[in-house]
Amino acid sequence: MKNGLDDVIATETILSDVDGAAGRLIIRGRSLDELAGATSYEDMLALLLAGFFDPMPDPPTLGALLGRARRDVFGHVASSQSALLSLPTIDAVRVLLAGIKDRDDLSSALALIAAPAVFAPAIIRLKSGEEPIAPDPQASHAADILRMLHGEPAREEETKALETYLVAVSDHGLNASTFAARIVASTHAGLTSSILAALSALKGPLHGGAPGPVLDMLDAIGEPSAAGAWLAAALDRNDRLMGFGHRVYRVRDPRADALKEAGRRLSKVATARDSRFALAEAIEAAALKILAERKPNRPLKTNVEFYTALLLEALGFPRESFTLVFAMGRVGGWIAHAREQALYGRLIRPQSKYVGPRPTQAA
Ligand code: CMC
Repeated sequence: MKNGLDDVIATETILSDVDGAAGRLIIRGRSLDELAGATSYEDMLALLLAGFFDPMPDPPTLGALLGRARRDVFGHVASSQSALLSLPTIDAVRVLLAGIKDRDDLSSALALIAAPAVFAPAIIRLKSGEEPIAPDPQASHAADILRMLHGEPAREEETKALETYLVAVSDHGLNASTFAARIVASTHAGLTSSILAALSALKGPLHGGAPGPVLDMLDAIGEPSAAGAWLAAALDRNDRLMGFGHRVYRVRDPRADALKEAGRRLSKVATARDSRFALAEAIEAAALKILAERKPNRPLKTNVEFYTALLLEALGFPRESFTLVFAMGRVGGWIAHAREQALYGRLIRPQSKYVGPRPTQAA
């Protein structure tokens, strides 16, 4: 048995396949290259959730229902503002999310999908002394997130970049947060319980908490010429380089390419960001070189979080909220997996191997 369950197949799924050797991701029969940049988040949800709710509305109706769900969950923010402000943003979102009724129907699912998208911008604004902005049910999910964050409509290319991100991270095999969602769903506890468990697992820096620290690393390095020495010193201290390595991928994470491309398009529009992007590329090249030298037996390549950090920074999200933006996309996958588990799975109850002391036998 491997500590960490590497290579253990714990379930069958029709949702997604991560091919770690080839660096390929398939979501419901479509490749990530085909989806990211070409599909709206609403259509992605329709693809993920198909067959898991009855009746299942057509994609345009699902989009309209999601808009209404954003409007409805916004009421949770108004009722509990002040108690939230002392908490880290992600914990404040968990508190609000816990208030959503723990059921298994489509309207609960849409409320949970709307929740991080509505709660995170509201809490970010409250923390900086600004009023939260009410959702616009007519807007697209991605456009509305940016409008609720900034208080004005986003530019087309910004909405497109966020949409590419949300679609690129919407599902990814049996990662830690998705597994957590499925374990809770296997007990039939309800979708809110599943999503809370998943969000809690996502929070850790080894899973969804890495992109904030990626920016800290960029800031600490400061300029391309300092990258090699800084990274060597970090590895001398046995630190992990954030944004590199993956449990499944042995080649470059395909999502990193989709996000680098989306980030590059944005940086061409806002030329002030060009030097930030150039710094990131220099650090990436230096990190790949030194990781190959220091860890020759373990291929450590760029993962999704590295360019996520640049993209979300360019879109104006504060770094402490990056994990929540990850959740805004991944929540669609969590819901689909929780439903698949509840409908077709069994209680997940593996065994542990006891290696502690045993009572001494009476003589
Ligand atoms: N920097 C330096 N060394 C690393 C890194 C890294 N980022 N990742 C793994 N290693 C080394 C590790 O020290 C170990 O070396 P040794 O064999 O000499 O002791 C070897 O690689 C194997 O490590 P492991 O702990 O068995 O690997 P894992 O499969 O448990 O780790 C990981 C996967 C993602 C947790 C890890 O690569 C990591 O900590 N990366 C940095 C954090 C990060 O970027 N997280 C985002 C992951 S992608 C988002 C997602 O899909 O969830």
